[in-house]
Amino acid sequence: MQKLPPSSYPDPKLPKADTALNLNGQVAIVTGSSSGIGQACAVDLARAGAKVVVNYPFEGAKEGAGATAAAIAKCGGTSRLAMADVSNEADVQRMFRETVEAWGAVHILVANAGIQRDACIEELTLDQWNAVIAVNLTGQFLCCREAIRLFKKQGVLPEVSCAAGKIICMSSVHEQIPWAGHVNYAASKGGVLMMMKSIAQEVAPHRIRVNSICPGAIRTPINEEAWKTPEAYDALMGLVPYNRIGEPTDIGRAVVWMASDESDYMIGHSLFIDGGMNLYPSFEHGG
Ligand code: BGC
Repeated sequence: MQKLPPSSYPDPKLPKADTALNLNGQVAIVTGSSSGIGQACAVDLARAGAKVVVNYPFEGAKEGAGATAAAIAKCGGTSRLAMADVSNEADVQRMFRETVEAWGAVHILVANAGIQRDACIEELTLDQWNAVIAVNLTGQFLCCREAIRLFKKQGVLPEVSCAAGKIICMSSVHEQIPWAGHVNYAASKGGVLMMMKSIAQEVAPHRIRVNSICPGAIRTPINEEAWKTPEAYDALMGLVPYNRIGEPTDIGRAVVWMASDESDYMIGHSLFIDGGMNLYPSFEHGG
């Protein structure tokens, strides 16, 4: 089948977050927003009117967080930086406390921070396993728990939103697609799937909405190897029916919608944004 040539980057035709989705008066915490998908989520949420906490994990990531804050300022938005390791309970609690002290409330959590430590199974060390589970799964649990404690206390403020709070967990196509050589990562995202759904079921009666986004291959530092060279990009396109890599704002724009009242009846759902990667494209022929 004839495929269109891959799009160039940055794709000028990609629309920016729809500012008709108004998040004015809302406060969002975006974990891991010093780079990649988190950075785009932070900027797109700010463009839609939310005040954004730009979280980064350690001193070395401060420059990236500063770049996010600068991009937010450039489009007239407001942000503050918060260094916190999401796998550390005290750090997470401090980040939420300081946000409330500064801005009075939190309405949106994007539990995005995530890492990869790849190795084939017989070489995968316990440290690599633990590091990925700690950030990708325990980190999301700690942030979700803190957000829910706060959302319950705040209740529904109809002038702000239909919901008492919105949580968007950053999962992956690998909550569904097995991934050889990345067992720790796939296991962490499989964990996010059932964590998200179980929390969503528990807190929906409190008008708290919890959902996930499952990105496919998005052009970020985490998967540079998969798109940096033309050969790698071509091989990647064999897994993407839509025949272009995802850009971080593909996810950022979806996050804005999922945080807005436009998606108010959406609860406990995994939204795949992946150019069709979840459609098992290797079955296009044969099978
Ligand atoms: C991973 C990327 C990968 C993509 C598709 C993501 O969750 O972080 O490294 O390219 O899934 O396989």
